[in-house]
Amino acid sequence: MDKLIIKGGKKLSGDVTVSGSKNASLPIFISTILAPGANEISNVPFLRDINTTIKVLEQLGARVEGNGNVVRIDTGPVANHEATYELVKTMRASVLVLGPLLARFGKARVSLPGGCAIGARPINLHLKGLAAMGAEINLTHGYVEAKARRLKGARINFDIATVGGTEHLMMAAATAKGETILENAAREPEIVDLADVLVKMGAKIEGAGTDTIRITGVEGLSPVAHRVIPDRIEAGTFMIAAAITGGDVRIHDMRLEHLDALVFKLQDAGVEIVNKDNVVRVKGSRKIRSVNIKTRPYPGFPTDMQAQFMTLMCLADGASVVSENIFENRFMHVSELLRFGADIVIEGNTATVKGVKKFSGAPVMATDLRASASLVLAGLAADNTTEVSRIYHLDRGYEALEKKLAGLGADIQRVKE
Ligand code: EPU
Repeated sequence: MDKLIIKGGKKLSGDVTVSGSKNASLPIFISTILAPGANEISNVPFLRDINTTIKVLEQLGARVEGNGNVVRIDTGPVANHEATYELVKTMRASVLVLGPLLARFGKARVSLPGGCAIGARPINLHLKGLAAMGAEINLTHGYVEAKARRLKGARINFDIATVGGTEHLMMAAATAKGETILENAAREPEIVDLADVLVKMGAKIEGAGTDTIRITGVEGLSPVAHRVIPDRIEAGTFMIAAAITGGDVRIHDMRLEHLDALVFKLQDAGVEIVNKDNVVRVKGSRKIRSVNIKTRPYPGFPTDMQAQFMTLMCLADGASVVSENIFENRFMHVSELLRFGADIVIEGNTATVKGVKKFSGAPVMATDLRASASLVLAGLAADNTTEVSRIYHLDRGYEALEKKLAGLGADIQRVKE
């Protein structure tokens, strides 16, 4: 297993380029099941979750070839309609193959994902939506077995705005008979990117990016070429890296408009952000002001930035309150941040963070993807040496993070444990 050794205290400066979005790539890869033939997806990040998605598609019979950040997925040969527990348990998003397989073959057998470190994360709303579209669904031996001769359009009102649920039903509805209306749909940019892909494939979708999405089913979809949007969470993580080290970083290939909630909070905290010619310059100030955040579905403050922002608040002047409203167990970074000298008290879904003058480097353990990123940020700001172990979590979602940070002047190295 690899770990990261960070010698903190360096102000980051220079230029960094954001990779393609993990959370857009995953459903887009899966959507190619609906478009038999040669699809070409570019700006794909090199990540463990992408490899898992490729394995899932290969298990279904697709031929997948990668060349740099361009991946060709030929879904013509897909013939199998089963995604096994071995793969789905390593990456929950694999469950999104259920709808597209059902739409293409009239049947699918997909493992239920099981537990997750950050919360229970059920898929009840995905299944309820597919059932409303006429699927016959049975749960046996840990697998969802679904059948439908042809899915039919339905009006679906989500109890909770769910990103995966919205993506799943949008894909399933693309070739269903008649019109599907998704109400209280999630509005994340990754959903809009997926809708763009489906529309290029020939789907009729209106309203992606709003809370009501209308999909008029078509007979079939055709393969496409598509460039994935930049990863807003990776971009946000670099913004905080600049802020927490009092640095001056220029971030390329990011879409600042996807990060409004974070930008406002960083500006409130005293961070300077300038967007010029599509390059975002982030300058940290000597003093960070404390700011409260509440995670919300997009366009609210992203849960995927909560751990990183909390780390910044640990070094702010004053106290801040961080409320996590999306996942029930997303404070696992807190006990590791305490090892740096942070002052944080958790009560329910709220963490009260009192700013401390400095962090002192410590050995810490990554527990999930974004928690791991927060520990790297803490290490960059801490004095002396920090060792972050179990970084396989980081490799799920950040492409070459330590190389990109080293390019900005961080003293960070990956070593074998
Ligand atoms: N929920 C249900 N029932 C459902 C679906 C969701 O109760 O059928 C609940 C979840 O348990 C959660 C809330 O609804 O409490 C929101 O979950 P959502 O479905 O929106 O999350 P997701 O689709 O499973 C995606 C991202 C996550 C990100 C969340 C929220 C992907 C592959 N994953 O997950 O990303 O945190 O949306 O924005 O897109 C990450 O990248 O680190 C990550 C965890």
